[in-house]
Order: sequence, then C-alpha cells, then structure tokens
Amino acid sequence: MDFEIPKSIKLEHEELHEDLEEATMESGSVGDAAKAVQEVLQPHFLKEEEFALPPLGLLSKLSSGQITLEMKDAIAMADRLRAELRQMLSEHREIVARLKILTEAALKENKLDSVQFTEKLTLHAQTEEEVLYPAAILVGEYLKMQFENKF
Ligand SMILES: [Fe+2]
Ligand SMILES: [Fe+2]
Repeated sequence: MDFEIPKSIKLEHEELHEDLEEATMESGSVGDAAKAVQEVLQPHFLKEEEFALPPLGLLSKLSSGQITLEMKDAIAMADRLRAELRQMLSEHREIVARLKILTEAALKENKLDSVQFTEKLTLHAQTEEEVLYPAAILVGEYLKMQFENKF
C-alpha cells in the first residue's frame, strides 16, 4: 500500500486526542463529561484511521494524473466507508451531543481550554461530513472507473 492518511489530518486527530486526554484529567463534571466523549470518540477515530481517511492520501497523486495498481486497496476502504456512512454519522451525532454537555460543564467552571476543544472537535466532525468522507468515497469511485478503463 503506497498511501496513508494525509499528515495534516493525522496531526489534527492526534491533537484532538491529546486535548481530550487533558480534559479527562480535570476534576468533577468536566472530567466526567470528557470521559463520556472519549468513550465514543476512541472507537470512532480508530475506524476512521482504518478505512475512512487513508483514501484521502491519494488525492494529490490522483489529481495530478498518477495512478498505480497498489491504489486499488483504497477501493475496499472507500466501499466500507460508504457502507458504514450512516453509522459514522450517527456516531458524530452522539459525539456532538456529548460535547455539548462538556461545553456546558466547562463554561460553568470557566475551563476555556476545554470549551475551545469542543469547538475544534465539532468543526472537525462537520468538515468530515461535508468534505472528507465524500472525498474519500469519490476516490474509491474514481479508482473503480480508472481501473475498468486502464487495467
Ligand atoms: Fe476524525
Ligand atoms: Fe469523525
């Protein structure tokens, strides 16, 4: 496999993961709310890194007309994302709902780092829904068309 998750997105995931880790160490309702987010976020991130985000690593090559047989692996990933899209979106709704509880708790205790984190993660989920997931699915569809024609 000659592709991986784009570095910018991988870093964003790592950063969100670390910020959340910090929030879970807060005492009281902020820490509890952060742990509730972590419970749903952790398995969600793992799935994204397994099949939703790696196809995006091909975008730059594909857009400049490069294509190799090894890219074929991305088709199965994109197909899995499409098959599980409804579930992924419902996980986002659950994550966002839990983030709202965290925001309220953090505002009450004036823990602005945690408030900032909830905004960042909410926006991240929105970007995935509007741009990244559809782009990953399109990578799969594009590859299918290319392989039908060329190989
Ligand atoms: Fe993500
Ligand atoms: Fe996500």
